[in-house]
Amino acid sequence: MLRGKHIVVGISGGIAAYKIPELIRLLVKAGAEVRVATTQNALEFVTELTLRTLSGAPVYSDVFAAINHHATEHISLPDWADLMVVAPATANVLGKFAAGIADDALTTTFCATAARRPIVIAPAMNDKMYACPATQQAMHTLAQWENVSLLDCAEGELACGTSGKGRMQEPEVICEAIESALTPKTLSGKRIVITAGPTQEKIDPVRFISNYSTGKMGYALALECTRRGAEVTVVSGPVHLDLPTTPYTIVPVTSAREMCEAAKAAWKTADAAILCAAVADFAPDTTAEQKIKKQPGQTGLQLNLITNPDIAATLGSTKRPEQCLIGFALETHDAEQNALHKLESKNLDMIVLNSLQDKGAGFGCNTNKVTLILRDGQKNNLPLMSKQEVAQKIVDLFPYFFRKPNMP
Ligand code: PMT
Repeated sequence: MLRGKHIVVGISGGIAAYKIPELIRLLVKAGAEVRVATTQNALEFVTELTLRTLSGAPVYSDVFAAINHHATEHISLPDWADLMVVAPATANVLGKFAAGIADDALTTTFCATAARRPIVIAPAMNDKMYACPATQQAMHTLAQWENVSLLDCAEGELACGTSGKGRMQEPEVICEAIESALTPKTLSGKRIVITAGPTQEKIDPVRFISNYSTGKMGYALALECTRRGAEVTVVSGPVHLDLPTTPYTIVPVTSAREMCEAAKAAWKTADAAILCAAVADFAPDTTAEQKIKKQPGQTGLQLNLITNPDIAATLGSTKRPEQCLIGFALETHDAEQNALHKLESKNLDMIVLNSLQDKGAGFGCNTNKVTLILRDGQKNNLPLMSKQEVAQKIVDLFPYFFRKPNMP
């Protein structure tokens, strides 16, 4: 989403400015082109040289400087930009932005951008300045503006040695807000349930049956649906992902039975479900209350397994005409044949086939190689790509599903 995008990074004079080189690095790494506009005070906290080197372009900080490309840089930058981000936004610039005061490179650029481009604002200040009624009012005003995404401050240690609300969100969180602001809200008003990760079926207090799913594919789908404006519920087995933001509801579960109950509850009011979890098909018929001990001379252990509910088939059996149900198939052999059988027998609208025969596909890795097979017979073999890109391809199809003849 950020590849080829033009981002103006606006910086005002707060200590959190020291984190902005990292934000610029993340944006450039994601393929964006960056230009920087700052207040004079910002350059007390981060050097012009650092910003120029990382962005690869002159820094706009002085309205009257002779090096400006154009005499009206504050107008040409918004013309060039797809989006402006202001981070950190101090109490001072928030007040100026909200009041329409434009008296330096940053505030004039903001003023000329506000009516035309998406703007992400990441405030940062001391907690007492955050609590000031004027600051609160400025933030309230800006949050109402159509183009503005105003991030809340985080709580924690502040530069003055105290602790409270006023910290700037981390660069990864700001980067995600930028991605989201640039994504068209094609799923606005839709509720989507996603199952993710593995299930664990308990044998005794210290052992369980499970699989290698990490949840990466499921959480990539959750992020993509959220970026497009959907209200997302992730019914998640135990995962250990490093998630900087979780702008969706997570319902944590452990076993397949728990996942089934949570998915059924969310499905009642959902427009769509994507079942990406690797659900254990079988579970021990009983869970031992105490750790099963190995006896002297013991040569084996018999476990009696019973079949778990099939979540996909359960949701498929109660699917209303306007609902859309997408499943995954993880195969090792006879891949397409097995996937087609699952598509039919579970009453899915589409199945996403990934095979462990393909390098870089399936469990654990950051990439996947999938074939999208639709109920109406359409088939799309996708090349190896990141799981986030796979999620985009899947979610791209929702408008098609929601336009089906029997759907609104
Ligand atoms: O989590 P990652 O490490 O990123 O790995 C991603 C993944 C490999 C787990 C994912 O891409 C994937 O393929 N998920 C489905 C794995 C699977 O269990 O496939 P299956 O062929 O056994 O099941 C078919 C479909 O039925 C799936 O949608 C599954 O969620 C669902 N199912 C299966 C069994 C069951 N009891 N209930 C179900 O709902």
